[in-house]
Amino acid sequence: MDTRYKEIDYWIKQSNVNFLVICGMGGSGKTTLAQYTVYSNQDKFENIRIVEHIDSEWKEPHHLLKLQETLLGGLGVEKQQVPNHNQGKVMIEKALQRKKALIVLDDIANHVQLEDLLGRGSINEESKIIVTTRKTSMCKWVGSTYGGCREYEMELLDDNEALELFSLHAFGSKNPIEGYKELAQQVVGYCDGNPLALEVLGSSLSHDLSITHWKSELDKLKKDIHPGIRRVLIRSYTSLPYECEKELFLHIACFFNGVDVDYVVKIFEHNCSAVASIKALTKR
Ligand SMILES: Nc1ncnc2c1ncn2[C@@H]1O[C@H](COP(=O)(O)OP(=O)(O)OP(=O)(O)O)[C@@H](O)[C@H]1O
Ligand SMILES: [Mg+2]
Repeated sequence: MDTRYKEIDYWIKQSNVNFLVICGMGGSGKTTLAQYTVYSNQDKFENIRIVEHIDSEWKEPHHLLKLQETLLGGLGVEKQQVPNHNQGKVMIEKALQRKKALIVLDDIANHVQLEDLLGRGSINEESKIIVTTRKTSMCKWVGSTYGGCREYEMELLDDNEALELFSLHAFGSKNPIEGYKELAQQVVGYCDGNPLALEVLGSSLSHDLSITHWKSELDKLKKDIHPGIRRVLIRSYTSLPYECEKELFLHIACFFNGVDVDYVVKIFEHNCSAVASIKALTKR
């Protein structure tokens, strides 16, 4: 965590930019890093608040009012005073101007969600707002709307960090236990540095430490994805707005992974608007 936090620490202490967007794939550690930042800096701000799961809350009834109330609560404004969305927005704008706050808006899927929550007013120059998102285009929009934004793109774990995290969950120690190094490295290779995948597989393999069980589980992983990892990653797929983007994603993942982009465009431009769709996929 420390290595990833360094850049953010500089933004908190030295930068006069209000916004930081942490972006990266599902399970890469965005929420964890944002939480760590808040707990490391809570004494420096008048008000702090983490508004979690924004994209999933968005699908619930009365979502916006609930989220506005959560945010206002963190800015020191009483819950029962929010009569409707528009007034909620005005109250948030006023509070953001006044308070020196550290706020995390976790899991924002598009800029409409952000604007509905924050409004477009000016923000106290000593405040810091962290937005976590899977989309790489968010920082550009925030920068042009609120006058400045830093971006931190999540780095996945390197081989040593990955083996350490996996071992912690599988064996309860930083290193694999004797006789398991090679098997552990195979699982780590499968996870490609994604902390969520390492954690899910480490915990699930920790229940039975027999070599036969591990080999059989590894075999299964070659044929299918673990449901705990699928659940997180599938959200990126289902949130693609157009059917042709979904279709193109599957074509590329199954048959054209690593193939020259011009060739793929030539084949799919007609049916899937490949130029625009590849651009949309790349942003994710
Ligand atoms: N640097 C880290 N060291 C150890 N564990 C980590 C680290 N980063 C993340 N994790 C673990 O990996 C899991 C996934 O992290 P997290 O939920 O923060 O990912 P995310 O990027 O917010 O995913 P999503 O896009 O689904 O919201 C968590 O259970 C967390 O504990
Ligand atoms: Mg998250």
